[in-house]
Amino acid sequence: AHRADKFIAIDGPAGSGKSSVSKAIARRLGYGYLDTGAAYRALAWQVLERGADTADADAVRSAASDFPLIQRLDPDDRHVLVGDANVTDAIRDPRVSAAVSGVARVPEVRVQVNEMFRRMVAEADYPAVVVEGRDITTVVAPDAPVRILLTAAPEVRAARRAGELGGSDPVAVAAALHKRDASDSSVVDFLNAAPGVDVVDSTELDFSQTIDAVLAVIERRRDAD
Ligand code: DC
Repeated sequence: AHRADKFIAIDGPAGSGKSSVSKAIARRLGYGYLDTGAAYRALAWQVLERGADTADADAVRSAASDFPLIQRLDPDDRHVLVGDANVTDAIRDPRVSAAVSGVARVPEVRVQVNEMFRRMVAEADYPAVVVEGRDITTVVAPDAPVRILLTAAPEVRAARRAGELGGSDPVAVAAALHKRDASDSSVVDFLNAAPGVDVVDSTELDFSQTIDAVLAVIERRRDAD
């Protein structure tokens, strides 16, 4: 089942402010929130947990065939479970961040998780769900009424990420960010907006201005329907 009308689709690169903005929008509007990157991370965690390598597509497919992911859509509940294992913090580990692209590169796995995302949204006890990722506007819900690409200049994204990580070397953070962008964008293009997708560039905006800009797009697209 797919309910495009329930999607608020938000894509963007790392450090664009996508997660915090998406969560804030969901809270403000009383909607659900789905972090699709967390699912890719949880699957990467499971591959590593089995002692396998995410560069091994067969190992990734095998892990995906038995992947008991539990993710709630409440924007205030960040828990992610794989079976009985609480992986909420583990999936943010640099070890997982470094391995996750291998998982995201397997086409059959993308098809499988996309079906899972559509089902979660269709069955959600919310009137709509803010779904953030890399290919939500283009692949998961290209038919969604609201589709937004949240961007920011690379140096601004790197500075924000360095700020979040606290005390990290900004040059190293920028290099890591660039490397992940390059690797991820070879799978799905999230640096350029597809036709009909609204771009919100947060380079010159603070957090609350970014939220206002996203809310304005949502209102405008809703009115147009
Ligand atoms: O947003 P994030 O950094 O938590 O995403 C983790 C990884 O998953 C990232 O390297 C790209 C990938 N990803 C993807 O390929 N498609 C999505 N819809 C979301 C994330």
